[in-house]
Amino acid sequence: MCGITGYIGYRDAYPIVINGLKRLEYRGYDSAGIMMYDGDVMHLSKTKGKVSDLEVITNKEEIRKEGRIGIGHTRWATHGVPNDTNSHPHFSQSGNLVIVHNGIIENYDTIKKELISRGYEFQSDTDTEVLVNLIEEVKKTEGCKLGKAVQLALTQVIGAYAIAVFDKSKPNELVVARLGSPIAIGVGNENKEFFVASDASPFIEYTKNAIYLEDGELAIIKKDKGIKVRKIDNDKLVDANIQELQLSLEQIEKGGYDHFMLKEIYEQPKAIIDTYRGRMLPDEGIIKMAGVDDNISKFLNADRIIIVACGTSWHAGLVGEYLFEDMARIPVEVEYASEFRYRNPIITEKDVVIAISQSGETADTLAAIKLAKSKGAFVFGVCNVVGSSIARETHAGAYTHAGPEIGVASTKAFTTQITVLSLIALKLAKKRGTLSQTAFQQYLQTMQLIPNQVEQLLKIDKQVEEIAAVYKDAKNCLYLGRGFNFPVALEGALKLKEISYIHAEGYPAAEMKHGPIALIDENMPVFVIATKRGHYEKVVSNIQEIKSRSGKIIAIVTEGDETVKEIADHTIEIPETEEALTPLLTTIPLQLLSYHIAVMLGKNVDQPRNLAKSVTVE
Ligand code: AGP
Repeated sequence: MCGITGYIGYRDAYPIVINGLKRLEYRGYDSAGIMMYDGDVMHLSKTKGKVSDLEVITNKEEIRKEGRIGIGHTRWATHGVPNDTNSHPHFSQSGNLVIVHNGIIENYDTIKKELISRGYEFQSDTDTEVLVNLIEEVKKTEGCKLGKAVQLALTQVIGAYAIAVFDKSKPNELVVARLGSPIAIGVGNENKEFFVASDASPFIEYTKNAIYLEDGELAIIKKDKGIKVRKIDNDKLVDANIQELQLSLEQIEKGGYDHFMLKEIYEQPKAIIDTYRGRMLPDEGIIKMAGVDDNISKFLNADRIIIVACGTSWHAGLVGEYLFEDMARIPVEVEYASEFRYRNPIITEKDVVIAISQSGETADTLAAIKLAKSKGAFVFGVCNVVGSSIARETHAGAYTHAGPEIGVASTKAFTTQITVLSLIALKLAKKRGTLSQTAFQQYLQTMQLIPNQVEQLLKIDKQVEEIAAVYKDAKNCLYLGRGFNFPVALEGALKLKEISYIHAEGYPAAEMKHGPIALIDENMPVFVIATKRGHYEKVVSNIQEIKSRSGKIIAIVTEGDETVKEIADHTIEIPETEEALTPLLTTIPLQLLSYHIAVMLGKNVDQPRNLAKSVTVE
């Protein structure tokens, strides 16, 4: 997720654009850039780092000259590591067009090869530079204006985008377009000025009149003339619906949610799609992951897979163990990175180590990677931050495309990590022949249903909030699960602990008899994951054992389950899916539960006490 912003009007554009970028930094902050047009020259300045780093440069440069038009970008890298060259804006080869882009162009490689064959040269590794040159090529070959060239070019593009494009030969207009990534257009008085941005936060202080483009729409913005909105696929004109915004600046940055954590819980359907986009191809019946494909022999010849991580990422790794062993029949060990790095583990060249980290900066995980590499193991990273230390330290990897996760409590990182691990496990299972093509194909179809099921599942928010009100004053809680959902029980307990400060423990459901059942009384809420296919009958027995000792049961069940409903104090229904994919669903109610309890207790949900978003020290 990146932030784009732009201005065209009568004011000095520089402060509007640079301050707009600061408002959008929550969307991405590994590099930033700005283009200002002073009526003659397009001044470009861009750098790795934050907007404040960009300001240090622009404060010294020409770029601060009076300019009435400008566009800017704050980056969350998906293609090409964060560096000055890969930062946006990007010029076309002629230097006449300039673009900023938020999204992922899946078929950029094919387009790039075609453009190179037509004599184009590229400075960066980004998909965005490909897009601006595709627009230039279409403009040249079709002899059309910018708006038409953008529309035609986008009909050739597969992926997600929110773009702003400027052509210095037509300095009174900006063209914007979106598919899968947001664009808001701020409309000034009498069409004298227009603002464009990923959300309204950069322009809310100037105008509350905004147009939110719909997916598949393009807008041609002409200063002093107005806006024309068209459909990208057929170029037909559509109404430009101007609405008056009621949101505060803070509400806009949180997408209208009260906290970043809640926003990120609700972003999970899109984050899961973005993570498997371009990798899982059900129609072709394949999974494409360069980091795995290029090193497939390492995985297939491995004696075992060792997964190292911390916290929530370690819980995702535990789901990975069940996935790899169940599907691909490869032995797996899951290690706390902090323990692994010091216990003098036995590691050989025949080991594959998978390091999982949202931030890509966790010190213990980084140290575990270095240890494994020193012993000759092949190390593969699963990170959410492009160009992070762990991403650079590992031999290969696969990024989760969750976008920045601001809330300290990890949510969308967890589900996107599991998505990546599921794709790797399925790919290896198919390669090793431990999963039939039919079963493999079935998994791909089922995975495609998950984002919508998560979307539907989020509608239980109100029900979960009511349950949270009943148990918010508990002093201790237990979380139980079996099989694929044992790690989800651990994750649910961690979520509650870290943001509500209520003590909670996760256990394999069968483990109750070996001690924890002594804890059960009427003051002990027990959250049990009892999905239909996960040793269901045994979990029902565990629930009955707890009920017979006056324990309170809040059960997560497969929709339509009437058995558990008879026994439990509360039941939360989730859609049915393959048992191996249920963690992507069962974790959602537990995320919402911990969120609502923490809010009811007045805790600082996004920045809980004693915690940091990334533990970069031991
Ligand atoms: C999870 O909600 C916590 N923020 C914490 O356990 C976190 O998962 C852990 O510190 C690992 O962080 P990483 O994924 O960035 O390596």
